Parts: sequence; structure tokens; C-alpha cells
Amino acid sequence: MTGNKDKILIVDDQHSVRFGLRSLLEGEGYRVLEADTGAQALALITEQAPQLILLDLRLPDTDGLTLLPRIKAIDDEAPIIMLTAHGTIETAITALKNGAENFLTKPFEPDSLLILIARTLDQTRTRRERLLLGLAQEQVAAEYFVGQSDAIKRIHATIERLAASDTTVLLQGETGTGKGMVANLIHRQSERRHKPFVALNCAGLSKELLESELFGHEKGAFTSAVASKAGLFELAHQGTIFFDEISEMELAVQARLLNVLEQKRFRRVGGVQEKEVAVRIIAATNRNLQHEVKRGRFREDLFYRLNVMPILLPGLRERREDILPLVQHFIAHFNHKLNRRIAGVTPKAEALLLGYPWPGNIRELRNIVERAMILCAQERLHASDLPFGDFNDEPSAAASEEFLSLEEVERLQIERVLTAQNGNLSRTAEILGVTRTTLYNKLRRYGLNEGG
Ligand SMILES: Nc1ncnc2c1ncn2[C@@H]1O[C@H](COP(=O)(O)OP(=O)(O)OP(=O)(O)O)[C@@H](O)[C@H]1O
Ligand SMILES: [Mg+2]
Repeated sequence: MTGNKDKILIVDDQHSVRFGLRSLLEGEGYRVLEADTGAQALALITEQAPQLILLDLRLPDTDGLTLLPRIKAIDDEAPIIMLTAHGTIETAITALKNGAENFLTKPFEPDSLLILIARTLDQTRTRRERLLLGLAQEQVAAEYFVGQSDAIKRIHATIERLAASDTTVLLQGETGTGKGMVANLIHRQSERRHKPFVALNCAGLSKELLESELFGHEKGAFTSAVASKAGLFELAHQGTIFFDEISEMELAVQARLLNVLEQKRFRRVGGVQEKEVAVRIIAATNRNLQHEVKRGRFREDLFYRLNVMPILLPGLRERREDILPLVQHFIAHFNHKLNRRIAGVTPKAEALLLGYPWPGNIRELRNIVERAMILCAQERLHASDLPFGDFNDEPSAAASEEFLSLEEVERLQIERVLTAQNGNLSRTAEILGVTRTTLYNKLRRYGLNEGG
């Protein structure tokens, strides 16, 4: 225990006891503080914040049991070990109930005290570290996953509910809606956060390559296998595997993956030994996987295996209340990165940002903000810094919904009805008084989601 710098406070009225304890503890590298009354103890705890407190039951001005809650009121983290010559089971129980970590009866073996101290310090340290780490991670996560729409709030709640489970998650949403980000968040917020997060993009990987990536191979399993290699299932052991663009996985590999998910075991390519699958699976796709199943491009059984907890990330145009917070978020981000001091956006730019259909979603928004900030020579981003529309950016109050063009009004109306009808095209067309084909054409023209 060399180099240990933890501060220990001894509270005991007997000089000889304090002297003995001090030499014992300093011999182990602890720093030692001493108090001979309760009042002095409280003062030292306030000023010096010791990491651990050794507390005698009998003190001249008070007794240890009365002092306990007052110490806890000042510092509820520092563990307290009660030391007493007059210990009864009852006092021990009362002490523990009042917040003491442990109880030791005098006389005791110096070694048992040292072991007890070391163990108690270790326990509080890990508890504190866990707390701090958890907090830091939650803060990072909450800070960066921007959005105040109901959809985003629901996703936040789902991520929290998923923290303690191994549930398989299927993320669906258009490109740039944040699937990769959510996959990461699920891992970071989960109890697996200290284990690996391994992401695999399934697009363009042949069956052979994907198999050896996923399951690893033994030396000599195929010509180029000059050494054996662990696959992603092994690397991600007890962590999370993220299958990005799962719809792009070849049917043959899908079959193999399904098999592994069902058996919960796998073998390396060319291997004999069975290994256990102990990972949380997250898959993502920007296609409608159910459509892919109908078209015979995705295995139905695998779809159901993955679709245990579906999370749909709506397009940005379906949650416009997130647009401005995201813009602010990326302005802050790029202010930092580009060393700029952009304060915000002009009302006209704001209206443009709110009216734009965002086919590339948040990724596109991020790119547009970055580009605008590079172009922008003023304090705020102007409409002319944005790549859509051709506006002169006189500061004016005319930038509200009242002054939208007919086309914009049409687009907004279509969107409202479509959202209210949960993307049902037939009902939307009926309400708007147009045929389905007309509606379909308009959706395409305005770059609106075709209802899934
Ligand atoms: N809610 C959000 N708050 C802040 N940034 C976000 C949010 N959602 C997404 N982003 C950012 O937007 C960009 C695109 O997100 P991401 O890569 O996760 O999308 P995706 O759905 O995986 O897209 P693709 O289907 O093209 O892979 C990233 O830079 C990501 O950090
Ligand atoms: Mg992605």
C-alpha cells in the first residue's frame, strides 16, 4: 500500500489510542488527522474532507452515535468505521443504521483494522467512480442528442428503458436521421458501456468476407488465412454489435446470422470450438425492412428476430420543432471548431430553415450550417448564407408563415394532413381532394416522405 495518500481522521479522546493508530496508519502511507472532541471532528471534516473516519463511541462532549448523523450531514460520502471498547450488538446495529460503514471492537488486531480500512476505501472509491462516470456519460449523451419533439423524447425514454436489458433493437429511419448516433447512445447508456461497441457496415461485404469478419477464422481456414483471427462477435464479447445497413446483407449471410442468433453460439470459420454469443445486437437500416421482406430481399424470420424493439427515427421534416435547436447546437459546435462567434440566425434564415424539407435530415442540416458558417461574414447566419432560395436578406418582419408562397403553403398543408393521418396516402388524398397519383407526384416534388 505504498503511495497511498488517503486522508484518515481519527476521532478519539484518548491520546494513547490516537498515537498508536497514527503510527499504524502512517506506516501504511495514509495521511492522518486527529480530533479529540466531536466539535473538533466536525470542524476537521468540514475543512479537510478526509476520505475515511475512525470514530470512537465515547467522546467528552458527545457520543459517536449522536455525532454520526451530523457527520453525514457534512459529508455523506466519507465512510465511517466505529471503534469502541464498549461495543454491544445493539450499539453496533444502531451505528450501522445511522450511517456507519463498519464497526470494530477494541482491542483489535492492527491487521484487521488495516484490511477493513483498505476494503472500505476501495468500495467507496469504486462507488464514487461509477457515479461520476455514469453522470459524465449521461451528461455527454443528453447534451449531444438534441431535440425536444415528442419523437425525440420518446426515443430518450426508450433508450433509458433499454439500459438494463439485452433486448435486440432495430433502428429504422431515412438517411441522416441519427441511427448511428442512437445505436451509440444505447450502448453508452447501457450497463455494457464499459465493454466494446463494435460497428459493422453490412453494405458491399461478400458472404465470405462478412463471415470471417463476424465469426473470425482459424489459421488455414482459407488460402489467405495465414493466422487465426477473432471475429467481431468475439471482440464485442459482453458489449454491443451494431449492424449498420442490415438490409444490404446478402441473403446467404442473413441465414447464417439468423442461425447464430438462434443458437446463441458460433464457430470461427474453419474452427471446431463453439463459442457463446454474449452481445447485445443493434441493427439499422434506412430502407423499410418490411417492404424488403415483401420483395423477398430480406428474410422474414431474421426480420422478426431483429425487430424486438423497433425504434423509428422520423425525418426532420416530421419534427420541425427540432430544427432550430439543432441549428443552435451545430452553431455552437462549429463556433468551437472553426473559432467563430456566430450568435444565431436572422428571422429570414430561420424561416428558410424551418420551411426546407430536409431530405438528408440532420446530416444535411449539419453540413448546411457548417457551410453557412464558413461563408458568413456577419454576426448571424443570413438567408444568403444558405444554399436554398435566392433572397436578399433585409432584416424584415416578413419572414413568417403569413408570407409563404402558394407552393410552400401547399407543401405544409400536405405535410400536416399526412402527419395527422399517420402517413396513410389514401386518406390524405381523400382529405385534400386529389387523387392518390396527384398526391404521390406532389410528395415527390416536395421531397416529402412517401409514407414509409
Ligand atoms: N438528435 C441529434 N442531435 C445532434 N446530432 C445529431 C442528432 N441526430 C443525428 N445527429 C448528427 O447527424 C449526423 C447524422 O447522424 P447519423 O450518422 O447517426 O445518421 P444515420 O441515420 O446513421 O444516417 P445513415 O442512414 O446515412 O447512416 C451525425 O453527425 C450525427 O452526429
Ligand atoms: Mg449511419
